[in-house]
Amino acid sequence: MDHSADLLQQNTHFAFGKNWASYAELVTPAKITEAVAGLKRLVGDELTGQRWLDVGCGSGLHSLAALQLGAAEVVATDLDPDSVTTTRALLTQLAPTATWRASEHSVFDLAQAGFGQFGVVYSWGVLHHTGDLSGALRAAAGAVAPGGLLVVALYRKTPLCSLWKLEKRFYAHASPRTQRLLRAGYIALYKLALRLTGRNFKRHIEEYQTNRGMDFAHDVHDWMGGWPYESITPAQTAQAMSELGFTPVRSFLDTRGKLGLFGSGCDEYVYRKT
Ligand SMILES: C[S@@+](CC[C@H](N)C(=O)[O-])C[C@H]1O[C@@H](n2cnc3c(N)ncnc32)[C@H](O)[C@@H]1O
Repeated sequence: MDHSADLLQQNTHFAFGKNWASYAELVTPAKITEAVAGLKRLVGDELTGQRWLDVGCGSGLHSLAALQLGAAEVVATDLDPDSVTTTRALLTQLAPTATWRASEHSVFDLAQAGFGQFGVVYSWGVLHHTGDLSGALRAAAGAVAPGGLLVVALYRKTPLCSLWKLEKRFYAHASPRTQRLLRAGYIALYKLALRLTGRNFKRHIEEYQTNRGMDFAHDVHDWMGGWPYESITPAQTAQAMSELGFTPVRSFLDTRGKLGLFGSGCDEYVYRKT
């Protein structure tokens, strides 16, 4: 693997789309309900009748949630062809009559794609995996209509981010066997940490799907492999968004584990284009 390769190109990235294809087989009505609740917590009732752009749609679950919350039109995009295929299959099956399209586009190509502007642009856990977080934030912001919302989740900068960066760069291009071994080590340490803090691993896993309808095992693979990787503090985000002409609406900051031992955690932000 040539580590100087262009990180904006999909062939240098972790195989996000394969993980989403595997995760999509686990989507149940309960996970959809949790995804809808997670999205409503962020956007309230502001989706009704809006055009919605999902930048880095992954499995397509949150585009489905947007349709269920009343979005008039959904445009789901991702750089990874496997994510786009999975999103298309999910929406074809679960929202066959709604107005949506799924297409292979990088966030950096949105301006040329001719999609126009959107009442809500949503990019959860994506912009820090593009190879250029600040450029990606600017590109996503450019797709928001005046008065519209930009909803993003971004990895929090922690003291251990540089170590995780090395780990991810290695893991993303390691063999499936090596990846399995590394995941087993991570999960063993995770269990130990839960036990030492008086928590139960089995219960933790059962409750995990209340996290936006996600799945623990797939999220561990995504966390360990999520390359390229950047992170950002809430203050840096506030500064960048202000420079782009946005004002804060609400945020949910992840204050757990400030060291970043098991992950840096995503801070969620909702901004309005003024
Ligand atoms: C961690 S996943 C998040 C998926 C989804 N938003 C969710 O919340 O479940 C990150 C996604 O971003 C996509 N991605 C990475 N770089 C991208 C880019 N330049 N433009 C669009 N999507 C990108 C990946 O292919 C992957 O599907």
